[in-house]
Amino acid sequence: MQHPPPTSRAWTITARGLPPNVLQLVDRPTPTLPPHPLPADVPEPEEWILVRTAYAALNPGAIFQMTLLPQRFRKALFNVPEMDMSGVVVDVWHPDRPHAAEGATPVGPAAPPRFARGEGVCAMLPASHTLPTGTGALAEYVALPARYAVRKPPSVAYADAAALLAALTAHRMVVESGARAGDRVLVVGASGGIGTMAVQMLRHVVGKQGVVVGVCSGGNAEMVRALGADEIVDYMLYKDLSRHLAATYASAPFDAVLDTLGFQALYKASPAYLREGGVYESVGIKPPTFWIPDFLRAVWTMKLNEWWPTSRWLGGVGRKWGACSMMHPSLAEREAVVGLMERGVIRVVRDSVWDFEHAREAYDKLAGRHAAGKILVRVDASVGENAC
Ligand SMILES: NC(=O)c1ccc[n+]([C@@H]2O[C@H](COP(=O)([O-])OP(=O)(O)OC[C@H]3O[C@@H](n4cnc5c(N)ncnc54)[C@H](OP(=O)(O)O)[C@@H]3O)[C@@H](O)[C@H]2O)c1
Repeated sequence: MQHPPPTSRAWTITARGLPPNVLQLVDRPTPTLPPHPLPADVPEPEEWILVRTAYAALNPGAIFQMTLLPQRFRKALFNVPEMDMSGVVVDVWHPDRPHAAEGATPVGPAAPPRFARGEGVCAMLPASHTLPTGTGALAEYVALPARYAVRKPPSVAYADAAALLAALTAHRMVVESGARAGDRVLVVGASGGIGTMAVQMLRHVVGKQGVVVGVCSGGNAEMVRALGADEIVDYMLYKDLSRHLAATYASAPFDAVLDTLGFQALYKASPAYLREGGVYESVGIKPPTFWIPDFLRAVWTMKLNEWWPTSRWLGGVGRKWGACSMMHPSLAEREAVVGLMERGVIRVVRDSVWDFEHAREAYDKLAGRHAAGKILVRVDASVGENAC
């Protein structure tokens, strides 16, 4: 295996603003191991890996990161966006076996290294790591704590293995909604990155006796049905979607709602179509734009939903609002969703795949908020199986 070059390319955030205006492709020193200094999220020495990136997946959260955070809050020299990636391990560092990948004998009681050079991996870097360190997935080489990575199964393509965040979020939402066999569940935003995963996971959980209804536009209806939805509600046909849901599903209310976009109006109307005791599980509240005032209003509404009593006697909505937060997925959760990919329970719907040099255009597509599945960036076509 070739040694990493002294410099390599990364997209970096140069100022606050929308991606096409603030992203720049730069040559920077290739990260090396061991990391120095150790970051706050991983303050003690533990296994780290250097990964040559194959693919990165884009997430709307990265656009918020660019439009919200003033440049002076970014401490790192290079601030690379994105949390989701796949690639090949090119170096491993472990405190007890600093040359672990070259087969040195263990000298301490620590757990043996999980990774070796040449292995395919996928990783989701939490914001607690990316923001303070400037680390991000849109780079040819990424040094990361091994705890954030999982081995990529041979049957899962590198492109698909990069889409962990959406799968992890959908998985957590399904668990927190309490959905189980035989349930009727509504998925709002069923054609998006999270929605396409949620529909497939729910199909698996509710089984043949259960019912999955997906809310998406008519153009995506066939795709969402193919993922396992029994019925589609085309949101474009209704001026007031809450009223339509109330009229259609009052007599057979849902056991849970998974709102992958965060529509407050749908939550407020939910007692009309979600059974008593059912959970309205949401990713948050959808701000109408990517700018600060809208974001702050959304956070305030979300906190009120969380803190205000559910009881209608106390002015509450009457249904529990579950806020999914995918800040720190455990290793077990990461392995669980990769296992679902490996077993074919879920597949990644690819909206589009963009070359590394065209990341700005890929963000333009994402910012339009009509991606059908995941927007992926091919960081290096020579990494991995490239059968995509
Ligand atoms: N809470 C967490 O931990 C967490 C984690 C990850 C992401 N998120 C947030 O979750 C949200 C969704 O992320 P994502 O990656 O799934 O987004 P996405 O893929 O960009 O969502 C795009 C999809 O939304 C659909 N859509 C747009 N307007 C709609 C409407 N009125 N009704 C139904 N569907 C509509 C679009 O379908 P059409 O083209 O058919 O309109 C498109 O398929 C983002 O706000 C993201 O920041 C939260």
